[in-house]
Amino acid sequence: MTSPISTRKHGDVLIVTSNNPPVNALGAAVRQGLVAAMEQADGDDSVKAVVIHCDGQTFFAGADITEFGKPPVSPWLPEVVDRIEATTKPVVAAIHGTALGGGLEVALACHYRVAVPSAKLGTPEVKLGLLPGAGGTQRLPRVAGVPLALEMTAGGNPIGAKQAYEAGLVDRLIEGDLLEHAVAYAHEVESVRPLPISSTKQDKLAAVEASTFDDFRKANARKFKGFDAPEKNIQCVEAATRLPYAEGVKTERQLFMELMSGGQSRAQQYFFFAERQAAKIEGVGKDVQPRAINRVGVIGAGTMGGGISMNFLSAGIPVTIVEMQQDALDRGTGVMRKNYEATAAKGRLTGEQVEQAMGLLNPTLDLNALGECDLIIEAVYENMDVKKEIFTKLDGIAKPGAILASNTSYLNIDEIAAVTKRPEDVVGLHFFSPANIMKLLEVVRGAKTAPDVLVTAMQLAKRIRKVAVVAGVCYGFIGNRMLIPRQTQAMQLLLEGATPAQVDKVHTDFGMPMGPFQMADLAGVDIGWHRDPGRVENIRDALCAIDRWGQKKGAGFYDYDEKRRPTPSPVVQQIIDDFRAKQGVEKREISDQEIVERTLYTMVNESAKILEEGMAQRASDIDVVWIYGYGWPVYRGGPMHWADGEGLPKIVEGLKAQQERMPDFTFSKLLLDKAEKKEKFTR
Ligand code: 3HC
Repeated sequence: MTSPISTRKHGDVLIVTSNNPPVNALGAAVRQGLVAAMEQADGDDSVKAVVIHCDGQTFFAGADITEFGKPPVSPWLPEVVDRIEATTKPVVAAIHGTALGGGLEVALACHYRVAVPSAKLGTPEVKLGLLPGAGGTQRLPRVAGVPLALEMTAGGNPIGAKQAYEAGLVDRLIEGDLLEHAVAYAHEVESVRPLPISSTKQDKLAAVEASTFDDFRKANARKFKGFDAPEKNIQCVEAATRLPYAEGVKTERQLFMELMSGGQSRAQQYFFFAERQAAKIEGVGKDVQPRAINRVGVIGAGTMGGGISMNFLSAGIPVTIVEMQQDALDRGTGVMRKNYEATAAKGRLTGEQVEQAMGLLNPTLDLNALGECDLIIEAVYENMDVKKEIFTKLDGIAKPGAILASNTSYLNIDEIAAVTKRPEDVVGLHFFSPANIMKLLEVVRGAKTAPDVLVTAMQLAKRIRKVAVVAGVCYGFIGNRMLIPRQTQAMQLLLEGATPAQVDKVHTDFGMPMGPFQMADLAGVDIGWHRDPGRVENIRDALCAIDRWGQKKGAGFYDYDEKRRPTPSPVVQQIIDDFRAKQGVEKREISDQEIVERTLYTMVNESAKILEEGMAQRASDIDVVWIYGYGWPVYRGGPMHWADGEGLPKIVEGLKAQQERMPDFTFSKLLLDKAEKKEKFTR
């Protein structure tokens, strides 16, 4: 097999090229090739300098994640980077695309780094539950300084080449042909001695304040809560300031191995591939071409319609937004502008970008204006009759080939499609609120949705930076459908003796951003309520009847102060107690384990049903939905991956133990089968 690493001489510069598509991951063959190239450089007197660069879209984007968990193949990445640094001729890294993780560690081991301005440099290992394990935690603070190294390693976001240049991480920014300029740069530095060696630099370590690390921990406490890896990244950078390089590297190795053998990094690596897998549509060939989307129409300028529109405007796609009344239209576009301006105030957009985005918006009261749109998304309230009326009209207005989408969260897409003469052009695009921020998009595939409509939706999602998951037509699709058993059980648990705070705490301790009752208060307790205060059939009706509609009213399952901080409500407790008495339910101590079994295990059971009915393409898609749509902690890998870790027999046993308290509960056959055979949902 030919090596992905090739070398050629350009005068007295040895050019080392990696060609390992798609992202030049540092697999075994690449590592072997790099070591051989350094041997070649040292062994050839006519070579005065070396340039390492990559073909294709990017510089090395990191270690090869597919090798993790398999027996190690020599040479290890730490050996490779040490070998590069030990080369007796100057080695220049020529960076384009993304120098990430092990890729940045290779660059750090080089004596010099040059980069194109569009390049990005980063250590995203923390997002895989890891830390840079090839000397990166020790070299990065020495080269770029401790504060930036902390941000990059524990935070995991890449920085742009310009910032890297200002920090000393990049020695020169290259305009024009990267390789040509990198070779010229190598000539410039070929006789400079001593060689700049990252691992021996000390000057940037000396200037560090003792409080830097604790300040950083405090500033990021919320963001890092529950995760193991950020703290270990911090400890490694701290070790760089306290210990000689060789000792620091030992700390790095030890902490890396601890993380690598832990469940969190397994979950996060699993999720990396789950997210990419979600983009693949079963049963649709690679040759299916997407339809062109040059203008999007949105019906409804409420919270959802406005948020949805912003996604397209931000991606440079013009939007025609339609409302029925001028004041609603003005209010909607006003909110969009305010949202953009708030982002600009935080420094994340320029004033010019705000105007650019808003300049792409065409607000109108005329539904016929949608005739020029390639995709029309209906985002009015949840009422089948209203939606049918809109789609009937759209059928007469939309141009041939336009995609007609509904943002419904629950309703049947096939029923909506059936009122048109073009059901093949109809699809569900279920955005999550706030739609301009949440990353998840459920793409609901109707019985007749055409393959190229699906392909278009998935590609468009990427263009607007969403992660899309294909769902089938069922009540609540994937995400909201799984909320139903959780909500049912959570309410029942209140009757049996749990408090809203206890149920919520089990969920937040698990790592969810909020529990079922906090979520109800945020979303609105009145959503789906029959709106008759005289008809009080359950706890929810009772709350709604006395205006406890959630945070928006300052009261729901909790009381809220002016800063929207919740406290348990004696009024709610009285309502619960009254219902308990009325229904003759006996109050008892509810254990946290029971709450897990009745809420989380029932969700797992529901997801197994979703899978067995073919409403999700694969188990990992369900995990993507819950992680991006509802904040399931990524370090637990989503409900399916988590269930596998718990053990499916244990889940089944737990559910059986609770079954008599859950009269409406029915087992998923798939869950029972898999538990019986000791199989898993995910790999
Ligand atoms: N190892 C193996 N495969 C990888 C990979 C990696 N490090 N990075 C990406 N891939 C694969 C993806 O799975 C995908 O495969 P598919 O086409 O079969 O689904 C393909 O490459 C293309 O990836 P994307 O779809 O993500 O392409 P984009 O162009 O959108 O993004 C990227 C490119 C920014 C490089 C992105 O892939 C990425 O962030 N990759 C991961 C980077 C990373 O985490 N590096 C650190 C690795 S850990 C490490 O280095 C440990 C060391 O410190 C010891």
